[in-house]
Amino acid sequence: MNILVLNGPNLNLLGQREPAVYGRTTLAEIEAKVRERAAARGAQVDFRQTNLEGELVTWIQQAKGRFDAIVLNAAAYTHTSVALRDAIAAVGIPTIEIHLSNVHAREEFRHRSLIAPVCVGQITGFGANSYLLAVEAAVSVNAM
Ligand code: DQA
Repeated sequence: MNILVLNGPNLNLLGQREPAVYGRTTLAEIEAKVRERAAARGAQVDFRQTNLEGELVTWIQQAKGRFDAIVLNAAAYTHTSVALRDAIAAVGIPTIEIHLSNVHAREEFRHRSLIAPVCVGQITGFGANSYLLAVEAAVSVNAM
């Protein structure tokens, strides 16, 4: 199976960005762990990051017919983006929403996810391991 892992704004700064909240693991290190876990499950991974909302929308649109599941850390756009929600609904690819931090234990504006209703489920609060749990979720959803 093919999994598309998408990362939104400021996640390129992982490792140096608010380490008390997001940990010290860099996005490159997370990517390496994700590739390792996906390979162990016989899955291929395309791993990308952008700070641009429209680029995430385009990547989701282009995923149709190419990917079996999307793992999405939309970062701040989680809480604001109708466009992302519409893109996920439009392509109909099973999408797993993830966050490093537990968004429900943080500021109130992070409690609302505009994308959650169109995702298969949400994994939030396990640090870098949220990505590995999402690979497992993607594999299990694909086997359903
Ligand atoms: C985040 C949580 C979001 O609220 C925040 O805007 C981020 C990262 C997380 O992975 O914990 O940038 O998605």
